[in-house]
Formats: sequence, C-alpha cells, structure tokens
Amino acid sequence: MPSSAEPDSILSELSKQLGLDLLGYDQRLLQPRIARVLKQTHCKTIAELTKWLSGNPARPAEVADLLLVASTEMFRDTQEWGILKSRIFPSLVAQNRFLRVWSAGCSHGAEAFSLAMMLDYSFEGAHQILATDIHSGSLKRAKDGWLIDSVAAKIPDEYRRNYLRREKERWSVSPLIRSTVTFCKLDVLSPFRQSEFDLVACRNVAIYFSADVQRDVYRRLALALRPGGVLFLGRTEIISDPIELNLEHVEGNFYRRITTQASRDGTRLAS
Ligand SMILES: C[S@@+](CC[C@H](N)C(=O)[O-])C[C@H]1O[C@@H](n2cnc3c(N)ncnc32)[C@H](O)[C@@H]1O
Repeated sequence: MPSSAEPDSILSELSKQLGLDLLGYDQRLLQPRIARVLKQTHCKTIAELTKWLSGNPARPAEVADLLLVASTEMFRDTQEWGILKSRIFPSLVAQNRFLRVWSAGCSHGAEAFSLAMMLDYSFEGAHQILATDIHSGSLKRAKDGWLIDSVAAKIPDEYRRNYLRREKERWSVSPLIRSTVTFCKLDVLSPFRQSEFDLVACRNVAIYFSADVQRDVYRRLALALRPGGVLFLGRTEIISDPIELNLEHVEGNFYRRITTQASRDGTRLAS
C-alpha cells in the first residue's frame, strides 16, 4: 500500500489540510481508504496528495468524504433500541423529567431523529438532543431533514405515520422532531466541554479509532454524562474494564456512569 511507507509527519500534514486527526484512526482501516483516494486522485504518495489538495479549496472536503464512513440507519440494531425503549429511557425519565441527549457522530441525522421520535412518542416530559459530527456534508444533509426511501424503510409504522411526510421522491422529518434536535460540528478527538447528559449515543464511531484513542474517547464521553447517565455504543463496541472509566455495564451496549466514590471503592450500583 503506497501510504503505509509515509512518515507520521506527512500524515499530520494531510490531517491539517483535511481538518481530521488521521493519526487517531485505526491505520488498518484507514490505509485502504487512503490508497483508494490516491488511486482516484492519480497521486502516488501522500506527499503528492497534500500538494494536489492545496490546488483547489474544494478538494479537502471531497477527500474527507472518501475517508469518513457516513453509513447510518434509523433505529440501527433493533434489539438495542428495544432495550433503550423498555428499560433505559424509563429509568432515565424516572430520574429526570427533562432529558439531555447527545448523538456524537450522528452522520446524516438518522440516529438523532430516531432518538427524538422514540422520546416524543413514548415518554412524557421534555428533551433536547444535541447531534454532532466532524463531517460538514453529513451535517448539512441532517439539517435539511430529508430521508431517502431506504432509510425511511427502517422506521416503525407508528413513527412513520406521526413524524414523516412524503414529499416528491423523499420523506421529510416533521418540524416537531426537527425542533428538538440541534446539529453542529464537533470532533470527538478534540477536547469538548459537553457535560451533564442523561444519554450519550456514540455508535459506530470509535470503532474507526486506534485502541488507545478509543479508550480516551470513551473516558471523555463518560465525563460528559451526569452520574447515572448512560452511554450507548454500537453493537461491536465493547468497553473492557468499564469501572476504570467510572462506568458500569448495564446490558447490551449500554454503560452507566457511576459516582466517583462508588468507583473508588470498586463497588457497583444496582441496575
Ligand atoms: C458509520 S457512521 C455512524 C453513524 C451513526 N452513529 C450510526 O451508528 O448510524 C460514523 C460517523 O462518525 C463520524 N466521525 C468520524 N470521525 C469523527 C470524529 N473524529 N469526530 C466526530 N465524528 C466523527 C463520521 O463522519 C460518520 O458520520
């Protein structure tokens, strides 16, 4: 693979141009995508690619598109969303009538809209959802509030009837649902100030990071939760030793933030 021979300094230079910290990503997953970019741009090395990128201000966004995996679905992993609805949300709502939720790495918004629909349809009380991603193109699509047929197909009937309207070839998400979600750009690899969330969903995002970086991201996401708040990860994302991050495993892909005292004592809170 042409790119693997390049020193980190060149990868750092490329990171600067793209606005992505490429050194934080799992190189085994990243390198094949970089190799594809090199092929498409007819560059032989990353050094050549960095020169090519500076030739046109639109190019960095195009290359970032090819490197970031934007695939997403409404209610992705049905079983986990079942747990969220039947056990996680009821316990969070019982503790707090106003839920603060964060979808970190929200792609085109499907995850944030799924959270908003479930909360509005099944739970009393108010909520506010922050949805963030590093990729500006995905965020623009999310803010437009349109879903294509293949994405809308995954939505349970009761939500489709209440929250989607057919317009031309697409589905538009209702103003009610859109009004509860705020989209903005945020890189989870950079320091962030978000805190006191009841639920943080960061699904199928950290899977692309190297193991050390993954752990650091989980640690900082855990700190963004209020004690008792819950972290919702992707199906293949597992935290070993959650107690070190002030988390306890609840079930499935859900981890709860425990109090600092309980963590120091090594004790677990009741589920
Ligand atoms: C595979 S999608 C997952 C989308 C959604 N969470 C889901 O599970 O359906 C991964 C998303 O993570 C975003 N992403 C990648 N690196 C990121 C970073 N450093 N900070 C924030 N978002 C990032 C990508 O732009 C992409 O939208």
